[in-house]
Amino acid sequence: MAMAALSASHIKPLGLFFFTLVAFAPFPTTTSTNPRKTIITKLIHPNSVFSPYHNPKVTTTSSSLNNASTHSLKSSLASKARGIPYVPNDIRAGIIAEATGTQFMVNISIGDPPKPQLLTMDTGSNLFWIQCLPCIKCFEQKYPIFDPSNSSTYTNLPCTSPSCTVSSRDKCDPSYNCKFSFKYLDGTAVSGIMGTERLKFETSDEGIISVSNVVFGCAHDNDGYSGETSGILGLGPSSISLVTQIGFKFSYCIGNIKDPKYSHNNLILGDGAKLEGDSTPLEVFNELYYLTLEGISVGEKRLEIDPNIFKREASGKGGVVIDSGTTVSFLAEAGYVPLSNEVQSLLNGKLERVQDPANPALCYKGIIDRDLTGFPVVTFHFAGGAELALDINSMFEENGEDEFCMAIHQSGLDELSVIGIMAQQSYNIGYDLGGNKIFFQRIDCELLELAS
Ligand SMILES: *[C@@H]1O[C@H](CO)[C@@H](O)[C@H](O)[C@H]1NC(C)=O
Ligand SMILES: *[C@@H]1O[C@H](CO)[C@@H](O)[C@H](O)[C@H]1NC(C)=O
Ligand SMILES: *[C@@H]1O[C@H](CO)[C@@H](O)[C@H](O)[C@H]1NC(C)=O
Repeated sequence: MAMAALSASHIKPLGLFFFTLVAFAPFPTTTSTNPRKTIITKLIHPNSVFSPYHNPKVTTTSSSLNNASTHSLKSSLASKARGIPYVPNDIRAGIIAEATGTQFMVNISIGDPPKPQLLTMDTGSNLFWIQCLPCIKCFEQKYPIFDPSNSSTYTNLPCTSPSCTVSSRDKCDPSYNCKFSFKYLDGTAVSGIMGTERLKFETSDEGIISVSNVVFGCAHDNDGYSGETSGILGLGPSSISLVTQIGFKFSYCIGNIKDPKYSHNNLILGDGAKLEGDSTPLEVFNELYYLTLEGISVGEKRLEIDPNIFKREASGKGGVVIDSGTTVSFLAEAGYVPLSNEVQSLLNGKLERVQDPANPALCYKGIIDRDLTGFPVVTFHFAGGAELALDINSMFEENGEDEFCMAIHQSGLDELSVIGIMAQQSYNIGYDLGGNKIFFQRIDCELLELAS
């Protein structure tokens, strides 16, 4: 049963495509009165003991992939990569019902008096939105729905503001407030009024930091969403994102997702972001973060993969995106096949292969921590020398009681490769949007020196 409940966990909220997100104004310096700041906050995994969604019966990140969800992930990211609308006709699942999946949540208090809201962190999308009263239609969420009329720090964003860019047409309501609306892949539509508010984050040392005049979406009419968080914290590169509002830098550190008691996952926004370790060039296309992957090793063995197969073409086909909102990773076929063959050559004959036509992943009978001890580290090599090393718990995921699968799947449409959050475990990942670099540092997040 747990598996069924978790089956949507490979789907990122914003693999979901914004129909209306087409044009962006320059960074709205006029609306930001904040001096440069550093915000350090905890990241909460839904299955951790720190989450209100914690279910002690669910002990791992196990999830089985259903065909519909695989399809939607690939389709949506690929169409987003090309900047073309993807109109789904076969996706009915609650695609952004991710609270029980493998995405991380941030606890942000909003307004005055401050009201806590849990938001899903997503580097694959840009807008920060929460549900707001009055609701034309709202989904259920854990904390009470935010009431802007009861907050002394809330203001509506005028539709003449340079930050009013989410909807390109029909963006003024009769009072000249900025309207926004967008549609997700599964048919979910979110709409409301853009506003500005004061945010309060609980820092990792139990302190509080506040930021004023943050532009966000107050969503009053939310049809189809069945998530449990209050909304989405988009950390993409566009001018509407909290990242560009706070300082063009951020970092997050993720430990072992399987450890429900691990309390050191964190997100840092602004000048204090940890940009440490080896770096690799970061490029932005269609609001997604692209990296240059040059090769893959299994142990000491470098696989025979032509690095050109990971290059992004001018058409938008191919390329390698890093995304905190995708669970497993995806590789273009010419990268996936050699990796899958190498894993099979190491495991076939030792463990029993499980083949399920409904599950495209490479799966075996067994238990990761028991049967894969000694399995070599798999390393992704990026331009400039940065690396991501995947140990067994980054490389494989449990799939039920006595089965595990490779947490890297073959990319479907358009040969787009995606580095998902499982592959980012045990790393601090730093994004420098000004310097166009991303930093990978293998570290126990507990050892990061966090000064807030
Ligand atoms: C979120 O923050 C509020 C206010 O500080 C706190 O009461 C609540 O317990 C926090 N929730 C989680 C899940 O950490
Ligand atoms: C509005 O805020 C006040 C505190 O300032 C609180 O006492 C009251 O319950 C709030 N009303 C609603 C509807 O949330
Ligand atoms: C997945 O595919 C299998 C076989 O193609 C089919 O029987 C099953 O119903 C599909 N599952 C979903 C969730 O679409």
